[in-house]
Amino acid sequence: MEAQHSDAFVFFGATGDLAYKQIFPALQALVRRGQLEAPIVGVGRSGWTREQLIEHARASIKEHSTYDEAAFNKLASLIGYVDGDYRDASTFARLRQALGDARSLLHYLAIPPSVFATVIGGLSEANCTGDARVVLEKPFGRDLKSARELNGILHQHFPEESIFRIDHYLGKEPVQNILYTRFSNAFLEPIWNRTHIRSVQITMAEDFDVRGRGAFYEEAGAIRDVIQNHLLQVLSNLIMDAPLHGAASALRDEKSRVLRAIRPLDVHSIVRGQYRGYRDESGVAENSQVETYAAVRLHVDSWRWADVPFYIRAGKCLPVTCTEVLVEFRRPPRELFGELVPSLSSHLRMRLSREVLIALGVRVKVPGERMAGEDVELIVTRQPGEALTPYERLLGDALRGDPGLFGRQDSIEAQWAVVDPILGDSTPVYEYARNSWGPREAARLIEGDDGWLDPQV
Ligand code: BG6
Repeated sequence: MEAQHSDAFVFFGATGDLAYKQIFPALQALVRRGQLEAPIVGVGRSGWTREQLIEHARASIKEHSTYDEAAFNKLASLIGYVDGDYRDASTFARLRQALGDARSLLHYLAIPPSVFATVIGGLSEANCTGDARVVLEKPFGRDLKSARELNGILHQHFPEESIFRIDHYLGKEPVQNILYTRFSNAFLEPIWNRTHIRSVQITMAEDFDVRGRGAFYEEAGAIRDVIQNHLLQVLSNLIMDAPLHGAASALRDEKSRVLRAIRPLDVHSIVRGQYRGYRDESGVAENSQVETYAAVRLHVDSWRWADVPFYIRAGKCLPVTCTEVLVEFRRPPRELFGELVPSLSSHLRMRLSREVLIALGVRVKVPGERMAGEDVELIVTRQPGEALTPYERLLGDALRGDPGLFGRQDSIEAQWAVVDPILGDSTPVYEYARNSWGPREAARLIEGDDGWLDPQV
């Protein structure tokens, strides 16, 4: 049965940072494509008026997207605003009034997780949860236990199919393309396993620091910020089995199954780092043990992936900004031509940002008498500008009620289960220089393989 389109978009955190950078541009794009005609009610606690919110939205779009006068005027005509404390029942009573007859509400919570429960309670009291959906920003909980508690609270008011947990990596074109390429080419499947794949590396490098988000980062750290969610999602797209069909439920079933097969990390399979100067950032403790870099070695306990190491690392203040997947194939069983061949010669490289490319690394003969070769890559590239930004795609899906690209409870809990044993300071944090590839200690995770292969930008 086709899900019902939401008849109002309720936007908590409308005056916040994420709204400014990502959400208003996405809303203008949805309006332009005719996918958003329902009233939008922003809710915030900044003491603003509706006019201030509209000017804020205009400034946001001018700074972070392309301003389209006609689309913006249409968007502005849809926007309403309710200002008030989230602990105050009258805020929610005014929201209910502003929503008029709308019943199929979409609540988008771009607010700190610490206020999720208060807002959900307020919505329920004001009769705003009945036929509604709720979209929650990451991080979803702080660990397995708190994620389960949050699920418990949500389920008192919303059935699982009405809960949309955002991980914006799932809305990224190149992340979807991993799945598409894998399951639209029959030649890949026979080699996509332990028999032919020697190791997999995923690197998410950022050449900037915490950009004024010190207080947020102190609560998160690289593992909670990007490994537990974005990078485990990328990994699951790489290693899941083919779903039975293309519908959201089948995709999510397979994903959840493979996430549950990832062995929980232990203290020997992680190295944490912190860039020099992090402790001087505003909002950061002077003896902070929070990691701005983490490297992990994962194993997947399945027939397909037994003994294949998966290396994942992410860090701030690294030399480049780039997210890349490198799948290393096994070498031929014998080197017939007496060459010393670099072991990475056959590989599949998928760059997810900032450019988007897929490259197949192969060894070919150099013309001439000798049977000697060189490594080349066959490359497909795309313009970095994506047709649809992740938020445009995800909010459009949520308005239509399509849950395919959102985290389901079982997957989110499986993701937390992988990192739960190594959260906090159970392992040392090593300092690293800005503009370096992280602490030297990370090399020990990958000993015996070829070492970390840094993306070349
Ligand atoms: C966010 C993290 O979820 O993803 C940030 O909180 C990170 O720390 C960002 O920089 C990266 O997203 P993107 O889309 O720029 O790769």
